[in-house]
Amino acid sequence: MTTLTSYLDQHSTSTELNDVITTVTNVGKTISQLLRKGALADILGEAGNQNVQGEDQKKLDVLANDLLLDALAKNTHCAGVASEELDNATPANADGSLLVLFDPLDGSSNIDINMAVGTIFSILPYQRQGQTSENSDFLQAGNQQLAAGYLLYGTSTVLALTITENVVMFSLDPDTGDYVLIEDNVQIDADTSEYAINSSNYRYWRAPMQQYIDELIAGEAGVRGRDFNTRWVAAMVGDVHRILCRGGLFTYPFDTKYAHKAGKLRLMYEANPMSLLIERAGGGATDAVNRILDIEPTDIHQRVPVVLGSKNEVDYVKDLHVNYSEK
Ligand code: F6P
Ligand code: MN
Repeated sequence: MTTLTSYLDQHSTSTELNDVITTVTNVGKTISQLLRKGALADILGEAGNQNVQGEDQKKLDVLANDLLLDALAKNTHCAGVASEELDNATPANADGSLLVLFDPLDGSSNIDINMAVGTIFSILPYQRQGQTSENSDFLQAGNQQLAAGYLLYGTSTVLALTITENVVMFSLDPDTGDYVLIEDNVQIDADTSEYAINSSNYRYWRAPMQQYIDELIAGEAGVRGRDFNTRWVAAMVGDVHRILCRGGLFTYPFDTKYAHKAGKLRLMYEANPMSLLIERAGGGATDAVNRILDIEPTDIHQRVPVVLGSKNEVDYVKDLHVNYSEK
């Protein structure tokens, strides 16, 4: 049996990285336990509400954010933390060599209905050791990530991680509290007939995305010549996990629903870490034209269209967009 601790000892390039990954995944155990207790842990509902006993309720995404922030602030290797939940990055230990970015609770609309949610994280090198970290220190392309992963709190808690060229998966043993290795080289099939998209936004998409989904819906009768199937977890972490397990395409495309935003998902907390996992598992990840991992960020909270998953299908979507813009 290989635990996360022994895996990190054998594969990680630095003890600093090991230590920070251990901090994040330990907090994941606490979040997992809170989710298991559900309503009994007073974690549901909006922050600021009072429960039936008149006590303050803490919404789980605020709680998860605070747990990660507190734990990482105490980690001497962590120079700063950026979270989807916080306007600005929080400096931690100036002598640290690593920056940690996270979406503390992805898919939070799933919490109150007892469905899958997760924590997504990304670790970048810190270039100005000895000085207090600032937002601008985090503005590094995804191809600079030293590690990325997610914790999926589903019917079981699973950790997907990449620190080497491989993507690996661990399952949290609730009896021992150990993350136990279950997959040592996750690979995604290049072809798929399964796709994930929120089709209710159809009228806000660009023409090539509308054409793509029209082709999938036409199925056997259309140009693709075969039927496709839809799955939508409404938590990116769940959809990406399914793709790492059995292939598929996930997209949250550019849409005009959110004025001045290039889609819904965040580059630094969602798109970059998921793209690193997907690419290292043999898949593709693009904003429909460019490789996501090569995008130079200009804002820690910037949004980006996302198309990721089985390589041939991602390339097909990309070709539709490139050919369309060249017309
Ligand atoms: O974090 C944003 C997010 O919750 C993703 O996890 C998920 O894929 C998406 O939004 C769901 O969006 P929608 O509400 O449009 O289904
Ligand atoms: Mn999210």
